[in-house]
Formats: sequence, structure tokens, C-alpha cells
Amino acid sequence: MTEHRSPDARFRTSLLEENEGPATNPTDNRTMGEIIAARFSRRGFLKGSLAVSAIAATVGPLAMIAADGARAAEGSAFKFDELEAGIDDKHHVAPGYDADVLLRWGDPLFADSLEFDPTKQSAEAQARQFGYNNDYVGYIAIDGSAEHGLLVVNHEYTNPHLMFPGIVSIVEKDGKKKAEVAPLSKEQVDVEMAAHGGTIVEIRKVSGKWQVARDGKLNRRITATTEMALSGPVAGHDRVKTNADPSGTKVFGTFNNCAGGVTPWGTYVMAEENIHGYFSGQLPEGHKEAANYKRLGIPEGAYEWGAHYDRFNLAREPNEPNRFGWIVEVDVNDPNSTPRKRTAMGRFKHEGAESIVAKDGRVVFYLGDDERFDYVYKFVTKGTFNANDHAANKDLLDEGTLHVAKFAEDGTVDWLPIVFGQGPLTAENGFGSQADVLIETRRAADLLGATKMDRPEDIQPNGVNGKVYVMLTNNSKRKADQVDAANPRAENAFGHIIEITETDGDFTATKGKWEVLLKCGDPSVADVGATFSTATTAHGWFGMPDNCAVDSAGRLWVATDGQGPKATGRTDGLWAVDTEGAARATSKLFFRVPIGAEMCGPLFAPDDQTAFVAVQHPGDGGEDWEGFGRPSYYEDPSTRWPDFKPDMPVRPSVVAITRQGGGKIAV
Ligand code: FEO
Ligand code: CA
Ligand code: CA
Repeated sequence: MTEHRSPDARFRTSLLEENEGPATNPTDNRTMGEIIAARFSRRGFLKGSLAVSAIAATVGPLAMIAADGARAAEGSAFKFDELEAGIDDKHHVAPGYDADVLLRWGDPLFADSLEFDPTKQSAEAQARQFGYNNDYVGYIAIDGSAEHGLLVVNHEYTNPHLMFPGIVSIVEKDGKKKAEVAPLSKEQVDVEMAAHGGTIVEIRKVSGKWQVARDGKLNRRITATTEMALSGPVAGHDRVKTNADPSGTKVFGTFNNCAGGVTPWGTYVMAEENIHGYFSGQLPEGHKEAANYKRLGIPEGAYEWGAHYDRFNLAREPNEPNRFGWIVEVDVNDPNSTPRKRTAMGRFKHEGAESIVAKDGRVVFYLGDDERFDYVYKFVTKGTFNANDHAANKDLLDEGTLHVAKFAEDGTVDWLPIVFGQGPLTAENGFGSQADVLIETRRAADLLGATKMDRPEDIQPNGVNGKVYVMLTNNSKRKADQVDAANPRAENAFGHIIEITETDGDFTATKGKWEVLLKCGDPSVADVGATFSTATTAHGWFGMPDNCAVDSAGRLWVATDGQGPKATGRTDGLWAVDTEGAARATSKLFFRVPIGAEMCGPLFAPDDQTAFVAVQHPGDGGEDWEGFGRPSYYEDPSTRWPDFKPDMPVRPSVVAITRQGGGKIAV
């Protein structure tokens, strides 16, 4: 076998590194990794989720208080019986709710789609089927209905070792079994490209259960080869011209679409996140894009697309990476529309793009750049939203002002405009135009002195209470001398959540206030420094906040990425987090994923009667789980969720959660 690194190795290894912390801290302080190891070695004596609560109750007074169920309910905006945290090969939801699998990887989306056959998968079949690794989930109502609409779903990346039969060999290395993945064929790379991007599919609720309409006229797959337009200030710039597109306006495809959003005018926006992994090869010596690409980690070469397609090889097509790392807008009302990359919103590792209409009608998008020590942004449109004329909103995202956040110790936040010619963003620093500033958004923000954050993930404005919630997933690389008020923990293994209040409740404001809503992790371990309320139970705490949602009542729901046997002794899931009154910072577990998965979505239907959640990369891992304990791959996965059939692989899927007997969730 070769030394090939699979995308799986890249993603999971990086997550484990996050959770274990660095080994090079020069101080005598115990590292967070040591604290976690001590914590979970105690758990090792017992098995199962009951053991988790038993152990937690022995190690700290907070957990003792948490055992008082009456107190847990006091003042909380959420009414449901909490699910027990734990780890196994299935999904679980709180008692009294159904969690039904709605869309699985490979499900046919059109009348003419081929049925899913994982042993004979082709790019042609995949391009007419539900893609891989569902992440963002959005709902666009049809005729204002909460029971009939378009579900829009991002397909972030692929896990070849779980998708393709016959490509993994198990070898012994240093006494441990390891999986080695064979190089992919061009046909397999083509399947990967067709499994990326997004899905738009009509769904309808019939007798309380959601169904997929294969004959939906607006159903569509977007992939890594779909033709798109570059629009806004960067369109046509020399730095985005390639052999295939000398105009610098026509791009082929989108990939690594993590979270996203639905705009107030009903379009679907997809965030291009970890684009660096798709590029390989080396720039010609002394190439002018070298510093630009280095700042984004390009090329990382985790995918083999560059071996089969010149445009992913920097030696052959040096400008191609400048055509990725944008926000893509899709008009879902026309399945033949050309998606547009809205360059005014900046280029970085975009996590998501949730938006809100400000008092004066301008629209504000909150944008995270998911990398350790990168930034929080917001984009304010120049024009205003027109609720009565959808066509009038068509190009709102081409003009506006991008800002980056600077969080001060006194609890204020400044939103610094990223505008060519202002401050350091001038020719002296190598910027010739706003296009240059946007192509190198990170460098522009560096020069402005933005605050380096602990991996900004989803950012959610809340129209009910006027606040904005920022998920900061973790940052094990932050050293003690790099701690600041907005990133208050060194070796931040479990992440935190910041709450922003914009001045006068105006989302376009250039100044606001902020505070830490929650420092995550196990509150029963004092060294962790978590700040969940004392009403939070041993099941209710979590680490690694990633995606989030606000329901129509303004309640916050947080999905996590990166928990597991070693990190937190529980799988990822969906937690209900109180933000108001005495119950503030109380959290309760509502849903959890099978082994190896992360929790994406989440999304509430407009009537709050359904929570859609996306189970991403199930079965990706399991070596460190006592219920499996060996490498997980196509032939021998740690779970065969959701089908549990011997001839079916594990399949990333979207799940619809509804209340038994109907009604709103958690009331
Ligand atoms: Fe794709 Fe930042 O998670
Ligand atoms: Ca994410
Ligand atoms: Ca993530």
C-alpha cells in the first residue's frame, strides 16, 4: 500500500489532536489532555451511560446538585425529559419524540434516479442521488407552508474508506491495527465530486411524517462540477482567470460546503470552508500567490482530485484556488439557475452565513472563519430587502461592507470595515483594489488587528431577543500568554459560546457589547472551568459547540462536533441551551448521534413541530470506543447506521424529529 492520506485521516486526526492538546507546553501546569485522561480513566471502571452519571456524581458538587430534577426544570424555556448521554451505534432522541431518517446518502432524488447500489456506484448515479456527509440543513416554505417546502442540504466532504468497497487494507504498525486506503481511481474521484455540493429537494408532511417528493419540479443536485458565476468585486479580476475560464467569471462547482443559510428572500447560501484540502502540486517558484495560499493552508493535498484534473494542481492552474472560499448563492426557484459566488462577502474558510433583516431594511450576514486563531465577520448589504418584490433582492449580496470583529477587554466589540483604501488596506500593503482585499480577506483582517478566535463556527442572529450567538468550537493551540477576554482559556479543548448585543439592537451597528454565555466541558471537573448552570445534569453538558439554531420562540439549540470516548465520554448531539433569566447557561441533551458521527443541521420547521438534524460521517472512527476498538471502514464499520443491513454501508443521513402525537418541540 502507498503512503496515501485519506480525507478521513485528515479530518479525524485533526479533531483528536484538538481534543488531546499539545505536548509542548513549557509550564508545569497539567495539560487539558492530562486532566481529561485522569477524568476518563476513572470512568473506565464502569460501562454504559448510567456509569457516566454515577461517576459524575462522585467527582463534584455540581453534579450532585444536577441530580435534582426539579431544580433543572426551574425557569427553563425547554420542557422535555432529558436524554441520557452515552456512546453506541445508534441514534437516540428524548423520550416522547420520534427521530425518523428522511434522506440517506444515495437516496434517489428524481423520478429517473438509479436506486442506490454501493457496489456499483457511478458519478452519473451519484449526481441524481442524495450526496455524502450532510451538513447545513435549511427549509424554504412553499406557499408559506410549514408542512410543504424545499429542504436544502449541504454535502460537505467525502469519506472514501466508508464509501467504496475494497480500498482499505488493515496493517499492523507498532502493535496496532491501522487502516490504509488505496489510491482512488478516476471513476471514484468522479463519484466523490458528484457526492459533494448540495441538494434541493421537495418534502411534504403527510399524516405527521415527512416524505421526499421524487417528482418535485425544483429538485436539484449541485456538485463540484456545476457551472457557477463569480459575481461582485472579484468577478473578472486577473487573479481568478484560468485556462478554462479566461474571463474570470465562470467557475466549475463548489465543495466543502459546511454550514450556510437561507436568505430573507428565499435563496440558499452555501459556505465554502476547507478548500485547501482539494488542491495539490506546487506553485511555480516565486509565484505571486504564494503568501495568499500559505495563509489558507493551500495546498493540503488530502484529496486526489489534482491527480486527475489539472485545475486542482497548482503547478498547472495556479489561480484556481482563488475561485474557492466564497459564499455561493442559489436561486432555488429555478433548477437551471446559475449559482453565484458572492465575492463581496469575502474569501476565507467560511463556516456559515446566517442572516437577519436590520431595522433599516439592510440585511446582515454573520460569518465565521473556522480555523484556530481566525476571525468573526459580518457583511452588511448596501441595498435594502424588499419583501414585496423578490426580483429586487436578486443581487443584494454583490454590494455591501464586510466587517471583522475586534473584541475588547471592556466587553465591547468593534466591527472594523474591510474596505480598500481605508487604514492599512492600501497599495503600500500590496492591495490594488477591493478585489485584492477580498481575495486575501484574512490578511486584510490581520492588518486591521482583528481578534484571533478559538475556531469560529456557526454564528446565529436571534430575531426574538436581538442577540447574536457565536460558536467557538475549541483551540488546543492557544497558549497561556495568548489568552484574552473573548478567548479566556488556554488549551481550550471544549470551546465556548459568545453572546453579542449590537448597539441599540441594530444589527448593522459597528459597535456592540459581548459576553461569554458558556464555557463548555464537564462542569464537575474544576480544572476544566466550564460554566454551565448548576441545574445542568451530568447528561446536559457538552463540548465543542459547532452548528446551532434558534427556533421561532428564540430558543437556542447547539450541535456539537468532536466529542467521543476519549474527549468527553459521549457522542455528539443536539443540546437545548437556555439563554434567559435564572436558567441561563442550563443545557439539556435532546438527541445524540451514533459512534463516529458529528451533529450537523440543526433546523426547526417554521412551526417548531419538526427539528431536522444531519448526522455527518457516522462510523468514522471507533478505535477508541470499547464497543468496537479497531479501524472502521466499508467492510467492517463501527456502525451500519441507519439501515443496519449487512449489505449496506453506513450512510450519512438527515433525520426528522417530531413529537409523538404532534405539537411543538420542547414546550
Ligand atoms: Fe465544517 Fe467548521 O465545520
Ligand atoms: Ca461546522
Ligand atoms: Ca465542524
